[in-house]
Amino acid sequence: MTTKIILDCDPGHDDALAMMLALTNPEIELLAVTTSAGNQTPEKTLNNAMRLLTLMHHQEIPVAGGNRTPLLKPLETAGNVHGKSGLDGADLPDPDFAVQPLTAIELIAQTLRESTTPVTLVVTGPMTNIALFLRVYPELKTKIAQIVYMGGAMGLGNWTPSVEFNIYVDPEAAKIVMNAGIPLVMAPLNVTHKAQILKSEIAEIGQIDNPVAHAFADLLNFFERYHEAPKWGFKGAPLHDPCTITWLIHPEWFKTERMNVDVETAGELTRGETVCDYYELTGKPKNTEVLLDIDRAAFIQLIKDSLKTFG
Ligand code: BDR
Ligand code: CA
Repeated sequence: MTTKIILDCDPGHDDALAMMLALTNPEIELLAVTTSAGNQTPEKTLNNAMRLLTLMHHQEIPVAGGNRTPLLKPLETAGNVHGKSGLDGADLPDPDFAVQPLTAIELIAQTLRESTTPVTLVVTGPMTNIALFLRVYPELKTKIAQIVYMGGAMGLGNWTPSVEFNIYVDPEAAKIVMNAGIPLVMAPLNVTHKAQILKSEIAEIGQIDNPVAHAFADLLNFFERYHEAPKWGFKGAPLHDPCTITWLIHPEWFKTERMNVDVETAGELTRGETVCDYYELTGKPKNTEVLLDIDRAAFIQLIKDSLKTFG
């Protein structure tokens, strides 16, 4: 059985890996790609998604650009992590196909309407598009099988001491999505920081004899550098976003716990913190399956094997 997905992303080096896994594994059917403002401006993330699909020869996938700003906050981007383009480090081709004449939420609506079965939304950037979608098309909520997202953390932060970047950019959107009553799967920093790729493994990817693998090795070498700062204590670079697609393909590689997850939107120091009720202290419904550990070696092997499929 294949899982039909729409990927809502802000590429982004790790978003690029999520897209690559979705395109190369038969367990996943990628119906559409929509882009959000996050790692870079909306124009750049849209262009990056199209450059990636051009690189990987999947111009048939419909692509649409989404929100220009978060719901309430001004947009803050992550050029310090992903570079000026949002995908620095590799020489990627210019897009050679047309964007859909639709907004992201219109493309999501069209895709859900056309699907005879519910579709999984995979979100690897801020949740602005999904929150807008739920506000504009509430009647299509039943066509969403689940939302699998990278974002948040249980007791950690990578942008402020307690806040992860995707939720930091648009906490109000995340709150709407997390309280929508849709089954949720969360890939927080707790698991993505275990999903590190080592420099030696990036070098191995560089040895795979095709242009897509070479481009990804270049991208990963750029992305790895930001994570070398000793404060992180990493051995390599954490591959956040591909944890989502990997969970859909191989859930048996993860340890998970079900719990209530909500977002703090009012805190002076904690706006955007995901509040994870690990010990069931609130009695609120367990709305989220939270990924907490991953078989790292199997995950890296999946990335390498997937990159080998390009001719
Ligand atoms: C998340 O933030 C972005 O920079 C990455 O693409 C990932 O989605 C990690 O905090
Ligand atoms: Ca991302």
